[in-house]
Amino acid sequence: MTIEIKQLNKTYNPDSEYPVHAVQDLTLTIEQGEFVAIMGPSGSGKTTILNMLGGIDTPTSGEVWIEGKDICQLSEKQLIAFRRDNIGFIFQDYSLLPVLTAQENVEFVMQLQGRSEAECQQRAGELLEQVGLTQQKDKRPPKMSGGQQQRVAVARALAPRPRFVMADEPTANLDAKSTAELLDIMQHLNEVEGTTFIFSTHDPRVIKRAKRVIVFEDGKLASDMLQSELATELEH
Ligand SMILES: Nc1ncnc2c1ncn2[C@@H]1O[C@H](COP(=O)(O)OP(=O)(O)OP(=O)(O)O)[C@@H](O)[C@H]1O
Ligand SMILES: [Mg+2]
Repeated sequence: MTIEIKQLNKTYNPDSEYPVHAVQDLTLTIEQGEFVAIMGPSGSGKTTILNMLGGIDTPTSGEVWIEGKDICQLSEKQLIAFRRDNIGFIFQDYSLLPVLTAQENVEFVMQLQGRSEAECQQRAGELLEQVGLTQQKDKRPPKMSGGQQQRVAVARALAPRPRFVMADEPTANLDAKSTAELLDIMQHLNEVEGTTFIFSTHDPRVIKRAKRVIVFEDGKLASDMLQSELATELEH
């Protein structure tokens, strides 16, 4: 599933004295199965872009084509269904439901898709195993470490078998070891299930693991390079 972004713009407070042009004239194609990092200074528009690609936020103008549909043209109801079935989100602060156990947090999104209880249970169990949390599955998030919570969030994001996963600074609150583990898991799922990953980050350790690195400055695309090109660039 290719994502084609055409002439995308997002302006906050357009009618005020100080409109904020958070994203300007962005045109970009991301192919199925890519593992892409978006980097750039604070305020450069990373979160805004991820939210528009994931249909959480609507652009001021432009198009986001996914599977022959411009998602900007979908009704709110269509967008909710599209998001639920195609997109997984991972947030910096994990955003798990504190009253549910790890297992229940992962099952919950599949229940919304109307899957059977048995299927939800089985897939949640498998995913928690893949992220190394079988022992922790009956714990609630407040009793888990940041790294463990973020791994639950990854399992939850992948539970509905989304075609792509958006992660907004997924390692911002993690130590080096948890960051490396999370990247291993994401990379494995990218390779095995072909899930497209698009994640924003400030972290050089994360950038190093991306296959493609897109840099934003002031809401504009500043560079778009493959890891191999980036390595060459840094040497000079
Ligand atoms: N809801 C909003 N209303 C008004 N302005 C906003 C809103 N959200 C973001 N902005 C502005 O849009 C610009 C881009 O913000 P965005 O959050 O996308 O940046 P970012 O690259 O994710 O930054 P950070 O690295 O700090 O997370 C900033 O100037 C920000 O102040
Ligand atoms: Mg941000």
